[in-house]
Amino acid sequence: MKKIAVFTSGGDAPGMNACIRAVVRGAIYHGLEPYGIYRGYNGMISGDIVKMNSHMVSNILQIGGTILKSARSKKFRTQEGRQKAYDNLQKHGIEGLVAIGGNGTFTGAKLFHEEFGIPTVGVPGTIDNDLYGTNATLGFDTAVNTAIDAIDKIRDTAGSHDRIFFVEVMGRDAGYLGIRSGIGGGAEMVLIPEKKQTIEDVISNIREGHARAKTSSIIVVAEGEHMGNANSVAHRVKEHLQDMDIRVTTLGHIQRGGAPTAMDRVRGSRMGLAAVEALMAGKTDIMVGILNHKIAYTPFEDTITKKKPFQQDMLRMVEILSI
Ligand code: F6P
Repeated sequence: MKKIAVFTSGGDAPGMNACIRAVVRGAIYHGLEPYGIYRGYNGMISGDIVKMNSHMVSNILQIGGTILKSARSKKFRTQEGRQKAYDNLQKHGIEGLVAIGGNGTFTGAKLFHEEFGIPTVGVPGTIDNDLYGTNATLGFDTAVNTAIDAIDKIRDTAGSHDRIFFVEVMGRDAGYLGIRSGIGGGAEMVLIPEKKQTIEDVISNIREGHARAKTSSIIVVAEGEHMGNANSVAHRVKEHLQDMDIRVTTLGHIQRGGAPTAMDRVRGSRMGLAAVEALMAGKTDIMVGILNHKIAYTPFEDTITKKKPFQQDMLRMVEILSI
């Protein structure tokens, strides 16, 4: 293998740049020629592919987002799109790919390998942390810290006005971000898809808190919560607690930006280099993760189909620590 390419796909995540840097520099160190593909699979299809050198990845380790840009590609879902992507890779003589992204990215990579035989190694990059085969995905730690920082600020004003705040965090269908930011931010309650709770549960939590002399509460609502988003939950709660002052804050894309934490920089660097070395060792169709501090390889098939175990003890902890 002489030429490899790296790309980022799906929602961007802090730490992706650290990973790109590690892929480019790791490849050069091992005598390979690294290429960068812009805008994920879309760039593969349009031929937006450039040869990378060491200087192109200088001073990016500490920056959020992705210098290669990202996209969710509809065209790559078509056979025609994948054929164009393959032709463009052939033009440059690219023989291996490092795909940084989430489940959608790996589903595309698996299919592409089945059809055209280009070896691909994935790196988990998503703030949602919803990938089987790694303790944490790139961007998760930064996003949790961003959410906690916001919750701290909201708590100041919630306390000053004796208010109930519903704070919505991201996580399309997973509560990892919700539970961690709830624990780190000292939330009274966390609503996540992994635990079915009702409006009555929320009301009794608030009432019981008040009975214990709490004058304000923070309730973290994960975006994928089955009862609906923070606005609709708050609206339904207000119908029963008319006398309470309720507000909603949706943190949204703020959680996706910002300088990556030390954790995400180190994880991105480790996983990026490991991905290059995995390609050189002839591995394909696998995701590089970190399990119990060690690099681990998980087949795409498993990362796509298996659900990462959820730490139920964390939910119990929110209840115990918010008394
Ligand atoms: O997958 C990461 C994520 O940030 C999810 O938490 C969220 O649901 C989604 O992306 C938002 O995507 P977009 O930026 O396309 O609106």
